[in-house]
Amino acid sequence: MSSLTKVLAEEVRKIEETAAVGRTMQTNRLTHHLMPPVGWLNDPNGLCWYKGRYHVFFQYSPFEANGGLKFWGHYSSEDMISWRYEGVPLLPDSIYDCHGVYSGSAIAEKDKLHLFYTGNIKMDGDYDYINNGRQSSTLHVESTDGLHFGTKEVAVSCEDYPENYTCHIRDPKVWKEGEEYRMILGGRQKSDQGAVLFYRSEDLKNWKFDGELTTEKTFGYMWECPDFFTLEGQEVLSVSPQGLTREEFRFQNIYQSGYFILKDGKPEEKAFREWDHGFDFYAPQTFQDGKGRRILIGWMGMPDADEEYVNPTAESEGWQHCLTVPREVTYKNGMLYQYPVEELNGLRKTGVSVSGSSVEIPVNGPFDLDIQVKGEQGKVSLGENLFLEYQDGDMILTLSEKAGAGRKVRKAHVPSGVIESIRVLADTTAVEIYVNGGEVVFSSRYYPETDEQTVKVEAQEVDGKIYKLKNCVM
Ligand code: FRU
Repeated sequence: MSSLTKVLAEEVRKIEETAAVGRTMQTNRLTHHLMPPVGWLNDPNGLCWYKGRYHVFFQYSPFEANGGLKFWGHYSSEDMISWRYEGVPLLPDSIYDCHGVYSGSAIAEKDKLHLFYTGNIKMDGDYDYINNGRQSSTLHVESTDGLHFGTKEVAVSCEDYPENYTCHIRDPKVWKEGEEYRMILGGRQKSDQGAVLFYRSEDLKNWKFDGELTTEKTFGYMWECPDFFTLEGQEVLSVSPQGLTREEFRFQNIYQSGYFILKDGKPEEKAFREWDHGFDFYAPQTFQDGKGRRILIGWMGMPDADEEYVNPTAESEGWQHCLTVPREVTYKNGMLYQYPVEELNGLRKTGVSVSGSSVEIPVNGPFDLDIQVKGEQGKVSLGENLFLEYQDGDMILTLSEKAGAGRKVRKAHVPSGVIESIRVLADTTAVEIYVNGGEVVFSSRYYPETDEQTVKVEAQEVDGKIYKLKNCVM
């Protein structure tokens, strides 16, 4: 281990230890969402199932709650309920990643866990941000225990990327297809068009460029954090495009995340569907677990968020952002549905029945509301903090001034046009709302004034349950 590695690791350990001391006073910490021990978290990375455990790595800036030099943090779990913090396996300690261990993925093969990620170097001098201000190579490390990783090797050098790209190429996702390995990277072309690049390898070491894919018309200037998988015979390309224009019912955040179901191998602009319609969702990644499920986890946050939004946890508690719960992705009605993995039902304590046409239930702390509804319009309110109203297939999520910390409204059309069920998974300061079993999802941080609030449901007919939830994270 180099002395730089030792120094960095020791500094992280110290700041995490100091942060842990004051933690019980922090009322915004979450109970079933993964968050950073201290500082800033962004994209989920290296999601995998390896040697009987789930692994979730994440973009981590331990020293700055508002983001800074990126490391990888690491959680692991046997059941996706109880998570163990495993420390910081990747530090920005090499000449390839000294300005950040950026996003990437994992692949478990022949007893080994391989991580692929972007090593970021910012250029010093007369360079511009778009074309040549950084060097981003694709790096590879291996492990035999999922915890400790060996020497960093260059899998694709930044000098070998195609000529028609700016220096913005990053976020490798690697998977196996037959006997071959494939890699997808996100990029910004010199023409200011977002696109993805493909590579192939027979040994995970030597990678060959294998083409690129983009829409016919420009669909954003940059595509970050790509993913590619096949579900029920459908080829899915997931990307996080930057540069789309805001609309009333779509693309309401500064950047988006969504997917194309490919048609004849091509992404069509009109086929793009957002994964999530809440205020806080970006850079999701999927993986296949030991049971063959396609599982998605997203970052419950937003880069370059609107200026009026100041996340209260950063100022008062020295940490910021979290990940969504793991969601199973399924193909239904020509689109993808997402729903919390069934393991999360294990968080539920005894349920209380919710039935009638106007029901009020006092809650104290995190809960899981799971209801069927009838009628063309209805409303779910969490105290005076959050309101979810629907009418004729449109849904509107509104946060109060205080609970929204500067954010107010998000809207979505529900493709089927009928709202039949709503599930609200509410943590202390995060809420995930699943409509019709995951046809439409809203993920958002929210900051209720106290843990006690009244959940109110109004509809022509409501039937279901509400459960208090166990505390399971750290
Ligand atoms: C997405 C992203 C990635 C990059 C990482 C750096 O949020 O910008 O493209 O690898 O974050 O933290």
